[in-house]
Amino acid sequence: MSRIWIRDVCVINEGQQTQGDLWIEAGRIKQIGAIADVANADVVIEGRGRWLLPGLIDDQVHFREPGLTHKGDIQSESRAAVIGGVTSYMEMPNCIPTTTDRSALQDKLARAKGRSFANYSFYLGATNDNLEQIKRADPNEICGIKVFMGSSTGNMLVDQEVILEGIFAHAPTLVATHCEDTPIIQDNEQAALARYGEQIPISMHPMIRSEEACYASSSLAVALAKRHGTRLHVLHISTARELGLFSDAPVAQKRITAEACVHHLFFCDADYPRLGTWIKCNPAIKRAQDRDAILQALRDGVIDVIATDHAPHTREEKAQPYRKAPSGLPLVQHSLLSLLEHVHHHRLSIEEVVQKTSHNVATIFGLEDRGYIREGYWADLVLVDPHAPTQVTEESLAYRCGWSPFLGHTFPARVDSTLVSGHLAWHDGQLHPHAAGQPLRFHKDRKI
Ligand code: DOR
Repeated sequence: MSRIWIRDVCVINEGQQTQGDLWIEAGRIKQIGAIADVANADVVIEGRGRWLLPGLIDDQVHFREPGLTHKGDIQSESRAAVIGGVTSYMEMPNCIPTTTDRSALQDKLARAKGRSFANYSFYLGATNDNLEQIKRADPNEICGIKVFMGSSTGNMLVDQEVILEGIFAHAPTLVATHCEDTPIIQDNEQAALARYGEQIPISMHPMIRSEEACYASSSLAVALAKRHGTRLHVLHISTARELGLFSDAPVAQKRITAEACVHHLFFCDADYPRLGTWIKCNPAIKRAQDRDAILQALRDGVIDVIATDHAPHTREEKAQPYRKAPSGLPLVQHSLLSLLEHVHHHRLSIEEVVQKTSHNVATIFGLEDRGYIREGYWADLVLVDPHAPTQVTEESLAYRCGWSPFLGHTFPARVDSTLVSGHLAWHDGQLHPHAAGQPLRFHKDRKI
């Protein structure tokens, strides 16, 4: 493993910008500051006015393995992740078979070993009848329990309140929820069918998967968590109305946290005429006011995490009419770039981006030695040039599905290097073929 000297770089960490050097050895950050003895460096990277951030930890991705590998797999999508500056990910259970018992979980861990370019962990999925599996889950082995409290891709809906009570009462670790009320969605869809027939326009998606559907389900999740003292993390908040459910207390003190996703921060309903079903996702992208309120909630500490919900589908699947096109879009290669665009326009500061994509994720999930630029921590790092533009071209896409909602867009910044556990995975436009991802480890006294 190389000894790497990163020289004279602007380190963005824990709310500060500090100019200095980093020395990396045996995969970890050995020294931060002015480094005198550098004769032994195998690799020297000059800072040249660039920013060094902790690598992103994406707490919501769908990499489609096993069972849906025509859309993507652990290898292809984790490769896209490191090209985009994402060094760790937490992956969702709605593959085939679903990750809803220990053997499916072990199978995924075995698949990731030696093939994942980024560090990894997997959720155990909840079903209507796997409470015993949930109770027995080892909090040191999974990042959390995923509950689809609204139906989405895959057949994993859990919406009977008596079953949800059992899950919220007995989950031995963090519960992460997808919140959309399915009966409300079904009523809205019936009304749209009566009006438009089969040719419902995509612009109806945020009216079908409505604000009301999101609020009914999110408020139920929060009420259940309060009743049972559950450690709840509500995923992909998409409406201004839901924000009132969450507190702005320091993240380490919260029992209920919330996540926003990059597409809900970047797009709004005005983008449906241009991008159509390519941006169809659950929960739906809603109004500009919702997008702007979620950005404000990030600045205010009401939303704690920014993730992607990276969810690739093939071009052929997505090119179908509204009712047939599946929900979800590939994002993990461009999440950091899209956030750097917000920084460029002063909608978020770079320190806020680091806090929401790395520090807070490490705190919420109790990750060991990751998520910060600290001596002794793993060297999960990303070097970005805030002033070099990146145009998204078809050739540059690493996703198996081969498309992106950002195709043709030029971001104002560039991801130059990504280090995963001290391994230079992406550097100067080249991907190193060694897949160096490791399983994420959790603090033994992980607070749940
Ligand atoms: O849009 C979505 N796509 N939302 C989800 O909750 C699931 C995801 C997928 O797996 O395709």
